[in-house]
Order: sequence, then structure tokens, then C-alpha cells
Amino acid sequence: MYRTHTCGELRLADQGKTVTLAGWVQKSRKLGGMTFIDLRDRYGITQLVVEADAAPELVEAASGLGREFVIQATGEVLERQSKNPKMPTGEIEIKLSAIRILNKSVTPPFTIEENSDGGEDLRAKYRYLDLRRPPLQRALALRHRLAQEIRSYLDGQGFMEIETPYLIKSTPEGARDFVVPSRMNPGTFYALPQSPQTFKQLLMVAGYDRYFQIVRCFRDEDLRADRQPEFTQIDCEMSFVEQEDVLNTFEGMMRQMFKNALGVDIPNPLPRMSWYDAMDDYGSDKPDIRFGMKIREITPLVQGCGFSVFDGAQYVGGIAVPGCVEYTRKQLDELTEWVKRPQVGAKGLVYIKCNPDGSVKSSVDKFYTPEQLQAVAVKCEAKPGDLVLVLCGPKRKTQTQLGVLRIEMGNRLGLRDPKVFAPLWIVDFPLLEWSDEDQRFYAMHHPFTAPKPEHEKWFYSDKKEDLERVCANAYDFVLNGTELGGGSIRIHEAAMQERMFEVLGISKEDAEYKFGFIINAFKFGAPPHGGLAFGFDRVCALFGGQETIRDYIAFPKNNQGRDVMIDSPSRIDDAQMEELFLSSTYTPPQP
Ligand code: AMO
Repeated sequence: MYRTHTCGELRLADQGKTVTLAGWVQKSRKLGGMTFIDLRDRYGITQLVVEADAAPELVEAASGLGREFVIQATGEVLERQSKNPKMPTGEIEIKLSAIRILNKSVTPPFTIEENSDGGEDLRAKYRYLDLRRPPLQRALALRHRLAQEIRSYLDGQGFMEIETPYLIKSTPEGARDFVVPSRMNPGTFYALPQSPQTFKQLLMVAGYDRYFQIVRCFRDEDLRADRQPEFTQIDCEMSFVEQEDVLNTFEGMMRQMFKNALGVDIPNPLPRMSWYDAMDDYGSDKPDIRFGMKIREITPLVQGCGFSVFDGAQYVGGIAVPGCVEYTRKQLDELTEWVKRPQVGAKGLVYIKCNPDGSVKSSVDKFYTPEQLQAVAVKCEAKPGDLVLVLCGPKRKTQTQLGVLRIEMGNRLGLRDPKVFAPLWIVDFPLLEWSDEDQRFYAMHHPFTAPKPEHEKWFYSDKKEDLERVCANAYDFVLNGTELGGGSIRIHEAAMQERMFEVLGISKEDAEYKFGFIINAFKFGAPPHGGLAFGFDRVCALFGGQETIRDYIAFPKNNQGRDVMIDSPSRIDDAQMEELFLSSTYTPPQP
């Protein structure tokens, strides 16, 4: 037996026991002839001590230890002279009688402690060393716990875990596909699934009426803190259900996860907000409702007073930022530059200061009377001491910009505490989204989402305004400003699915080529069905109080989609290229 206990286990009650530990040397230091060693494993750290008068070979062995050496150490558990209340094992130490070096280590490229001195790139290159650090170990432990909760909940609800293939055909989730050449079928390619969407629907046709899978998905898209090219979904589908059944089932799952993993009670039932309200009040389909600062439309209050910028705008809206009346000229100029950055895209910023004495002062005093500005402040629910920020332009675009500004001000004011959880459902999404650029409709969720039955009359109309009005029984689970999951009630009739492809401008031939298998399956008695998928990495990160998902994935990719540890993606040799019928003559542009 290599060890009797782990490095996180021993307490004062173990005093006097002879124990053997195994782990990594985090630190070793000499103090007045004694050697203190911090021994680490994934359970914690225990202090080992070699006394000055210990056997000479023991003293010598202890002094030869370097960082990250793997050792086995035997000794007696003693009460510590100077206790460390910050460590669970901080009341004891092990007085060693033997040390065995199991393996040496070269000097690690960064410190492997709670906080590391290594930069992101260096830590990514030595990910296996970074993974020895407690914050990453806690992150992966949380991920494991949540996966267990999910399986236990869904199993209890009669869901079957069924795997679906990775080498498939393009799925329509709206990103680019990763493709894999087929050696046995020259010139053809598999696509990796962006999600198991079509397969889970086929499982419903096959009668497996409650399916789930914790499954890897692949999307070639621009990466952000909450996006990875390969990520994991908690993918679920149910037959013979309406929206209400799906929401209740998965609210229950989330409730159990919050309770059992974090000890947090979330509201029962969860709040629901229509997509339209979310856009109008928060300028986002994933509103952060931990704080107010709602967007208010002030168009009628500010037009017709000679300020041409507002007069010519389709929409004027504002937010009241609490307690920011003291913003200086310099701060306001900086904020104006901030909203003009391409990431926000506003043309300019108007402000109204609501002074503590009840008076107002604005950047457009020339055009408006104090009464008119007061009316705007009232509409924006501003209190004395608040700063009203106003943007204008096309309606949805301006609301979105105000939404981004709202989040920024929320961050600046510390209103977005990661330990506060405010989940909600966004419901009643429009089915379709018009693209001016491409002059066509796109599916807001995906093309398998059904229109609301009461909106079907518009779905079969050829008028753009009618199609724009169609809503879907589609829903997103939103937590603290992040979309954690989404789904919908699906189309289950071949004719309606064909109509959907027609509305999306996909030709009959193209629809047949890409999705003939599912249209055909719907002809064999497809049950009504619906489901959803959560982004598991995002769930883990938010539960852990982080926004970036990378630390919750054992071996993630960097912002360029690279794994710098294994150096991938990388070139393959000409023979392999040839075998796959790929031309090797193309040389990519040098960076
Ligand atoms: P959707 O595309 O909304 O729906 O994806 C579901 C959830 O997956 C997460 N997610 C991601 N997480 C990390 N990196 C990414 N690149 C990434 N892309 C998406 C998000 C998102 O809410 N088949 C449908 C679900 C359904 O209709 O049942 C689907 O995939 O948290």
C-alpha cells in the first residue's frame, strides 16, 4: 500500500498515529536545522517535518527534495506548535521517520500553488502541471459533482442515456462545421455534430420518449470566454410533451443541482420573461436580472424639440445609473468614447444628471426645458443622485447597445456578484429572424422548431410582416446574463418541416439532400416532441462563480482554437494527405 491517508485527511484526532502519505512536494524549507515540507495531492496539503536530530540519511534525503518530487513519507501525527487555521490540516504535522523518493522532477516552469506566477500560455503548455493547482482541482471536482447530479436526477425521471454518433452530416445550429475526410469514400467528408439535434429527434420517432446525453459538440466559430470549439451539452428530448412539461422537468433538474452542489435555493417557480420584454427592458435575450437599471423608451418625450439627432431617430431610450451623478466631465467623455467603440457601436451619448437637490443638468440643456428633462428622468425611474444615459437609433440596435452599456455600468458599480444567482426562463421567441444583408429569413433557434399553433396562420402566409410575427414555443434558460441552455417544441410533421425549409429559402432539392432522412422519418408516425440542451461547461463555470469556461474543461483550446500542449491542429504528412485524397499543394498564408 502506497499510502494510509491522503494529504487532506489528517486532523488533531489522529495525533499519535503512524501514517504514510504519498504526493508532490509543493515546498520544502529549512528552519534552524529542521526541514518543513508541504506535501500535496488532490485532497489537500499536509506539513511534514524532519527534525534536526533525525537519522542522518533522513536529513540528507529531506534536504535533497525539489519542487514537484513525488515522495512517500512515513511518520507520526503530532500537534503543531504554530497552527495554521487557514488549512484543514493546519493543526497537525507529520514527524517523519522515513522518506522514499518515488520520482524526481525537473524544476516546474511556474509555481504550482493556489495562485501561480505562470502566464496563461505557459500554463496551457503545461496543462498537466496547472491541473495540479487547487483552483483547477476544485473546478473539475465541481464539474464531476454536477454531472452526477444530472445523471441521478434524469435517471430518476425515467430518462435513458443514449449515445449518438460523432461522424455525421452537417447539423444546422448556425456555426461552421468541423469536417473529417473519409478514406474509404474518396472525396467525401463527415461533419462533426454541432449538436445531436437530428439524432435525438430520430430517437423520439423510434419511441425512446425520454432521452439524455452528456455529449461533446463541435462548432467552428469565433471563440470567446464562454465558447470553445468543442464543448459539452446536457442534451435532452421528450415525447408527448408541451412547453410546460419541458420547463418543469428541467427547472427541477436545475433546482436539484443548485441545492445539492451549492446549497442554494432558487425561486420556485422560476421567473419567466418574454423575449420581447427582455429586449425592451434589458436590451438582451439573456438579461442579467441581479440588478435593475431597466431600459426605458423616451422617444415621444424628446422628439419635436429641435434636437435633430433625436428627432431623426426611430427610437430613443435611457437607463438611470444609480448614484453616478458625480461623474466628471472626463469620466463622461471616457464613457462616450466607450459606447462609440465598434463593440458597442453607438454614435454618441447624451446624459442627464439628476442632482441631489432635485435639479437636472444635461448635455442637451440647449434643446430641452428642465421640466422636459425631469419627465425623461421620471420615465427612466431615476432618483436624485442618479445619472441618466441616453442612446438613440434603430430600435433593436439601440436597445442592444443600451443593454451592453447597462452591463458595463453594472460591472463598474459591483452589482454583478457571482455568488448571487438569478436564473430565469426567456420564452416566446420569434420563430424567424430577417437578415437585411442576405434578404432572407433565418431560424432564430433552429429549423426544427415549431411555430406556436395559434401562429400557424401567419407561418403559411407569404407576407414578410406575417412571418415576422410568428412566435415559437422556444425557451432559453438564462443565469446572470449568460445563456445556459435553450430548446423548443419541434415540428413533427413532414409537411410542416418542408414548409419551414421553404420559408428559410432552402430549395426542395437542398432540403432533401441535407435533411431528407428526417423529413422521411416524420412520415412514419413521429410523436409530438420537444427538448432542450444546456451548455454544461457554462453551467459549471457559473456555478463556480466564473465567466470563462476554460478552467472547467480539463484540456481546453486557447483563443485561437489551439491546444498548445499537444500542438494541435498541425500539418499532416503528404502520404496521409494523399491517402485521404486531399491536395497537398496548398500552402497557407504565413502569419
Ligand atoms: P444551442 O445552440 O442553443 O442549442 O446550444 C445549447 C447550449 O450550448 C451552449 N453552447 C456552447 N458552450 C460553449 N461553447 C460553445 N461554442 C457553445 N455553443 C453553445 C450554450 C447553449 O445555450 N440543439 C439545440 C438544443 C435544442 O434545441 O434542444 C442546441 O444546440 O450554453
